[in-house]
Amino acid sequence: MLIHGEKSYILTKSCPNAGNNYYKESSSQFLHTYMSSQNPTTTSMHIEKLADEFDSKTAQEVLKWALDTFGTKIALASSFGAEDVVIIDMMANLDKNRARVFTLDTGRLNQETYDVMDAIRVRYGIPIEVYFPDQKEVEEMVRPRGMNLMYESVENRKMCCEIRKVHPLNRALSTLDGWITGLRRDQVVTRATTKKIEIDSGHRGILKVNPLADWSSDMVWDYIRKNNVPYNKLHDTGFPSIGCEPCTRAVNSGEDPRAGRWWWESAAQKECGLHFDPSKKRQS
Ligand code: ADX
Ligand code: SF4
Repeated sequence: MLIHGEKSYILTKSCPNAGNNYYKESSSQFLHTYMSSQNPTTTSMHIEKLADEFDSKTAQEVLKWALDTFGTKIALASSFGAEDVVIIDMMANLDKNRARVFTLDTGRLNQETYDVMDAIRVRYGIPIEVYFPDQKEVEEMVRPRGMNLMYESVENRKMCCEIRKVHPLNRALSTLDGWITGLRRDQVVTRATTKKIEIDSGHRGILKVNPLADWSSDMVWDYIRKNNVPYNKLHDTGFPSIGCEPCTRAVNSGEDPRAGRWWWESAAQKECGLHFDPSKKRQS
């Protein structure tokens, strides 16, 4: 485990660029604390301090630090939404050989999502690590409840997210020391305090890196256009935020960008569990 145990692993195996200046200035102290502290509180305080320091760093600087520090023990979780394709482009530019991307294929994605997944694979030459849900769990879930169980009750919908998203995510993260996400502060109120780096207490205390935390949607789209990054074509037809096909609809102009996600549920219930933080008892 990263935070409480394998600190020497990070130093010896995941720091191929330990000589560069940025590493010396920003992450040597980080690694020193990991090395010297067996105390989770100290580590947590240190990450918070480092997170403050990182707030003024660019997305590319944060990503470079993450790849230099964790190497192939960190990967991007990608749904191939606008934010994720920006991060993939940045990671590929930094180091194609160390850029790892995984996706959770719930079995209910849109064709357009598979199209962009393939376009990204071809453009950057990065293999996409696809995690599927457990076959038995899905079969046992739908046999008594049907394929459209998510519309029947919040409990059913949450069960579907748990089995199709959360369990595969846990499997993906069990092999990693850190993960990268496309979370942005202005996407939804529960993400307003998202830091560029944070401890993920829901997943063994590994590091969660959110390089676009302070980006706006306009910045994301400027980057995509300027760099001609492949994106999900549903974005052109009124889908600012894309999840599974049965649970995502287009939004009207002026509507909240996330209004099309689980649109039949109240805002307080809209959570799929991917970004649940038990220490804060809330969803991001
Ligand atoms: S969700 O929790 O409401 O579904 P959202 O769609 O905003 O999340 O995506 C936020 C981030 O979660 C993405 O940038 C990505 O890092 C991660 N994510 C969401 N869905 C998936 C998925 N199917 N596979 C991998 N990562 C995902
Ligand atoms: Fe199931 Fe909808 Fe959750 Fe996808 S978003 S896992 S289809 S409930």
